[in-house]
Amino acid sequence: MEGMEEAVRELARRLAGASSVSVLTGAGVSAASGIATFRGEDGTWSRFRPEDLATPEAFARDPSFVWGWYEDRRRQVAAARPNAAHEVLARWSRRFPHFRLLTQNVDELHERAGTGGVVRLHGSLWELQCWEACPQSPLRWRDETVPLTELPPSCPWCRGLVRPGVVWFGEALPEEALLAAAEAVQTEVFLAIGTSGVVQPAAGLLAEARARGAWTAEINPEPGALAAAADLSVPAAAEDALPEVEARLAAEGAGGC
Ligand SMILES: NC(=O)c1ccc[n+]([C@@H]2O[C@H](COP(=O)([O-])OP(=O)(O)OC[C@H]3O[C@@H](n4cnc5c(N)ncnc54)[C@H](O)[C@@H]3O)[C@@H](O)[C@H]2O)c1
Ligand SMILES: [Zn+2]
Repeated sequence: MEGMEEAVRELARRLAGASSVSVLTGAGVSAASGIATFRGEDGTWSRFRPEDLATPEAFARDPSFVWGWYEDRRRQVAAARPNAAHEVLARWSRRFPHFRLLTQNVDELHERAGTGGVVRLHGSLWELQCWEACPQSPLRWRDETVPLTELPPSCPWCRGLVRPGVVWFGEALPEEALLAAAEAVQTEVFLAIGTSGVVQPAAGLLAEARARGAWTAEINPEPGALAAAADLSVPAAAEDALPEVEARLAAEGAGGC
């Protein structure tokens, strides 16, 4: 596809000249690892809307039901591996002097691919949190046991109910993630990859970066709201486009054109 080739070349050219690069990723980056996106068709849970499961109200109503969904996702992610898209981004985190990766994903596949300093905007599937917010417990703690020994789990400190350590619809993002995002929009190149761009505040970051002078691009096989806001749209899957951009970047570095 000629348009796609041109887009890859343009993206590589911009990256070749950049020292600061920020990347925002969404569920599409993990699709090739077999992890269902929220708005995808497949999966046992596809008949439920995420807005009906991933909320404090849903959890208050039926914690076992909501935990069943998270347990299923934990199992899926534990069996998955990072794909080519995660791997290219991990190498870029070492290539660019100022590289920031913000993710909406809660699967930690970027970390498993070897990307350091990942900013998790929406928490992690591998963290737990006391629902009662008891003063004895830490804000969040890790538990990578699959399956969990007790469902729903109980707080080791107060024996109360435990919730997943993720950010639900209607909840605020962690303060440190918001600060990191505010820094990340001050960059030469800003890329949004595999995100539908409908969940705020993450969805607004590309436009904010652009308003501050960044050159912006989106990679998504189904270009949506963000494509219209970006300087460039690469209409392809992340696991295909990123290795191509990387190869092109190597050619640029070697003086190719
Ligand atoms: N892997 C995960 O951790 C995971 C999975 C599902 C949902 N979520 C949650 O979904 C919410 C935000 O939605 P979102 O925008 O991240 O996901 P989303 O499901 O709304 O959108 C996914 C986007 O990825 C695109 N896509 C599909 N396959 C792709 C591929 N191979 N390469 C590139 N793009 C591809 C789709 O066209 C779509 O625009 C977040 O709150 C996030 O926590 C996370
Ligand atoms: Zn507690």
